[in-house]
Amino acid sequence: MKILIFDHSEALAKQSAALVQACVAQKPNAVLGFATGSTPVETYQQLIKLHQAGQLDFSKVTTFNLDEYYGLPADNDQSYSYFMRVNLFDHINIPAGSTNLLSGIAPDPKAECERYDQLIESHGGIDLQIVGIGKNGHIAFNEPSDEFLMHSHLVNLTENTIQANSRFFESPDQVPTQALTMGSGQIFKARQILMLATGEGKAQAIHDTLHGPVTPRCPSSILQLHPDTVILLDRAAASMLD
Ligand code: PGA
Repeated sequence: MKILIFDHSEALAKQSAALVQACVAQKPNAVLGFATGSTPVETYQQLIKLHQAGQLDFSKVTTFNLDEYYGLPADNDQSYSYFMRVNLFDHINIPAGSTNLLSGIAPDPKAECERYDQLIESHGGIDLQIVGIGKNGHIAFNEPSDEFLMHSHLVNLTENTIQANSRFFESPDQVPTQALTMGSGQIFKARQILMLATGEGKAQAIHDTLHGPVTPRCPSSILQLHPDTVILLDRAAASMLD
């Protein structure tokens, strides 16, 4: 794993956007994996700037998002589908049909996950995947558990995650309790992974990701085995590293 530490989140975002830009420059029809949460928002702002400056063309790109709340339709303003439109897709030239998310209202979540996984495979897999990290080491909604799951699946969110995400809702009891998520094994299959983390609340999880055992009790630790992962941190998130 390559570790890059930045003084400011803006510099971090510029670097992660530059890595996305490089991927698309090399392969205009790249398959990009995107994440939600507060951490990647600045990266998306930088991607929009690059696009507006004529330096990044998304017209042939396909995207897949990591996860979606189960129970929320795409037009709900708390859905990740809505988040991606507001924070990125509405501001770049990506065709509407080229952005993919798991459906939060699929009546059969298992069938929806199979559809999603097959769609990713039919596009040749993900070239570059952006991921955040939870304070408990989760990646996407792969919570600490006894096994690394390969495929997309329905999960029950932990209390820790519900509390962390309640800042986006009026109260914790409005946070959905389930989500559909890519499996950690599937994230691992991306050819390049950019993990973004800022703030001291992530310092322990980053320490465990890099220096702890590879274990599904800390799902992000699987990245230790990945051949091309770049971890972009601010100083606070890096504060527990040696
Ligand atoms: P955050 O979430 O970027 O809002 O901190 C990251 C995550 O939980 O994966």
